[in-house]
Amino acid sequence: MEMNINRESDINNWEEVILIYNAALKQISTKLAILNDEFQQVHKYNPIEHIKSRIKTSGSIVKKLKKHGYESTIPNMVQYVNDIAGIRVICSFTSDIYQIADIIRAQSDIKVISVKDYIVNPKPSGYMSYHMLVKVPVYLSDRIVDTKVEIQIRTVAMDFWASLEHKINYKFEGNVPDRIKSELVACSRIAAKLDKKMLLLNEEIQTISSEE
Ligand code: GTP
Ligand code: MG
Repeated sequence: MEMNINRESDINNWEEVILIYNAALKQISTKLAILNDEFQQVHKYNPIEHIKSRIKTSGSIVKKLKKHGYESTIPNMVQYVNDIAGIRVICSFTSDIYQIADIIRAQSDIKVISVKDYIVNPKPSGYMSYHMLVKVPVYLSDRIVDTKVEIQIRTVAMDFWASLEHKINYKFEGNVPDRIKSELVACSRIAAKLDKKMLLLNEEIQTISSEE
């Protein structure tokens, strides 16, 4: 059968959106799970603590389009909403994040569209994570659809911070009091410090065990 490489703009109904983005999430999750198993076998070490994935709700998609002044159409969703499919990879150490990012980049069927390193450049809120926007081919019976997936890679500490900050923002409906905001920035610095110390400690332990 002849396969056509179709563009995402050929997605034309909501059920198809869900089907394709879910398939893209499964592809990336499986790839990451395989890499984690391989690491376990070769290095006796798991760089990934856990993986969470989600499809953005139709309500959030519509809200995002509206915010940017776009009409709620399927082509607009596919073109302008980059995080319809989102995957979050939680690691123990900052070094794991870059290692996973490099491995993703090296996969021949994954195209990296953009990268945002909020670890080197944290957001003013204190938010830290490594973001990659990628495209992965989804194989349907009669065509291949290159599909966008937003990958967020972060440590357990960064994830802990982000989930609390998210809850606080939700509670105050975005109007977080300044004192709490600056406490959150301070917490983010502490989390970053903890990540650094844990990484150094782990490296020290690695050297000791490799000398034995
Ligand atoms: P969005 O319109 O929010 O998607 O922003 P963007 O398209 O400019 O991308 P960005 O990289 O800034 O953020 C993408 C995602 O990262 C968000 O949807 C959140 O999941 C997460 N994120 C970004 N900034 C923050 C933050 O300050 N706090 C928390 N908790 N999460 C954040
Ligand atoms: Mg987003």
